[in-house]
Order: sequence, then C-alpha cells, then structure tokens
Amino acid sequence: ASAFTGALFATGARAGDLTIGFSQIGSESGWRAAETTVSKAEAKKRNITFKIADAQQKQENQIKAIRSFIAQGVDAIFLAPVVATGWDAVLKEAKEANIPVVLLDRDIDPSGKDLYLTAVTSDSVHEGKVAGEWLASQVGAKACNVVELQGTVGASVATNRKKGFEDGIAGHSNIKIVRSQTGDFTRAKGKEVMESFIKAEGGGKNICAVYAHNDDMMVGAIQAMKEAGLKPGKDILTVSIDSVPDIFKAMAAGEANATVELTPNMAGPAFDAVIAYKSKGTVPPKWIQTESKLYTQADDPMKIYESKKDLGY
Ligand code: AHR
Repeated sequence: ASAFTGALFATGARAGDLTIGFSQIGSESGWRAAETTVSKAEAKKRNITFKIADAQQKQENQIKAIRSFIAQGVDAIFLAPVVATGWDAVLKEAKEANIPVVLLDRDIDPSGKDLYLTAVTSDSVHEGKVAGEWLASQVGAKACNVVELQGTVGASVATNRKKGFEDGIAGHSNIKIVRSQTGDFTRAKGKEVMESFIKAEGGGKNICAVYAHNDDMMVGAIQAMKEAGLKPGKDILTVSIDSVPDIFKAMAAGEANATVELTPNMAGPAFDAVIAYKSKGTVPPKWIQTESKLYTQADDPMKIYESKKDLGY
C-alpha cells in the first residue's frame, strides 16, 4: 500500500462542507464520555456534520460502523480502536474508497500504518513510565508490593501503560508488581478485581500501592479498599491515568495520590488535520501527540476538580 499523499484525497473542501463519521468505543469510563462530548462540541465549532456510532466495546460493531460510513460516502472517518489488531481489511476498504481515517486516543498494530492518515494520541508508554517513576520517588528504598489494574486486554493503551510502568520502576528491585489483572477500564470491574487482590494479599496488608491504567478503575479500587477498612492514599498509595474530576475529589480527600492527565480533546487536532488535508492537500505528521502531565495532592486538587467538572465529564 502506498503512503498518503496530499493529492490523493484533496478536494478543496471547506470545513462546513465536511461530513465525518466517528466509530467510538463506548462509554466505559468518565474520560470516554468526556471525549464524546468534547468531540461533538469541536465538530460544532467547525460547522462539521458529525456522525457518532457507539460500538459498545465491540470491535465487530466498529467494523460495521466503518463499513456503513464508507457506504454513506463520508469525507473522513475517526476511529478509536478498542483493540490494536484486526483492522487491516476494513481500513483497506476505506483507503480504496479514498476516505482518510484518523485514529483517536488508541493505536493499531504497525501493519496498518499505511492505512490511516494520522493518529491523535498521547504517548501511553510515557504515561505509564511517569506513573512508575512517581511511585519510585515516593517509596525510596522501602519494599513495595504493587497491584496493577490493567485496561482492556489487547488495547494499545493497556499494553503500553503496562510496559511504561515497568520501565519506570526498572532498577528499583524493592518495587514488585505482585498481581496484575484487567479491570476493563470500568469502575465496577476495578472494584471487583481490587476486592480479589485484597483478599489474596492478606486483607490488603501486603499491598503498598495500586497502579491503575485509568482513574475510573482506581475510583472503584478506592471504594474496595475503604470497604475493607483500608486507608487508600495513606496505607496504600495510588497512581492512575486520565485526570477525571472524581480522582481529584479523591485526592482532595487524601484517598488518592497521583494521576497522569490525558486530554479528552483528541478530535480538535483531528478535525484540523482533516480540514487542512481536504482543503489544501496538507499531509499531517503520522502522529499528532497530545500532552501528558502528572498531578499530585500538592496541586490543589479541589481547584482542578472545579475547573474540570464542566468540561464534558
Ligand atoms: O484510550 C484511552 C483510555 O480509554 C482512557 O484512558 C480510558 O479511561 C478509556 O477507557
């Protein structure tokens, strides 16, 4: 497959003429809901006709939605891929129909690299690394058993956040991941898995820290720890990813320690890339990277909570 060229899809279109379809994963987390809300608002700002298909966490629904967008002849397709593999056939169909695809917030396997225009994502290995380094900075030389709540199995962000965290604690042989299981990025599963970790680890006595691939699972885990009579944020350190308002509330209450921010505004840069591509033939970089920032209890969590809560969460 050839790489994208400016001439391939350029139509001289204006933003107001564009119709874009978005195959969204579902609504597993507060972050995901915010991404959907923000995407709609960003489309409205640019006067773009925006069609969202909710896949309810199923790749087969995403593939169906992409095929339906192709049949409708949309100008571009946004895809938040629930898992990293299994996209090549449908993305080839989009490419053959001259419809550029932009990946939002998750990646696909390198075999699909020529099949999409650009990916708007954070560096999810880096997010995990920041979380691991933060934990290492807190525990010093003390022995620390970590339990890990992983995101959806097969999702790029779950694989990468796991790897990044392991990189972040590498060289600190006193820090060990003693249990690691998926909580599927949801609060309910995060709570359920944490309950089983607590049971298996001496009622929680053997756990020094929880690392969760998103804040929603951590909010569930905090609930599980409290119900088991433990003190999250004090007896057991917490670090997670997303920076949703509820984690700042927990931080303000001293029940959570740190979070790495993931912006829910992936669509804004994606719309701008498609508009430039469609109107001027400008080929965007293959990766449009969004920022990741660490917040701790020292960052006035209540103020951040107040500032975030109306942003689509
Ligand atoms: O792909 C981004 C991840 O998906 C978010 O961190 C998580 O909350 C969501 O479900």
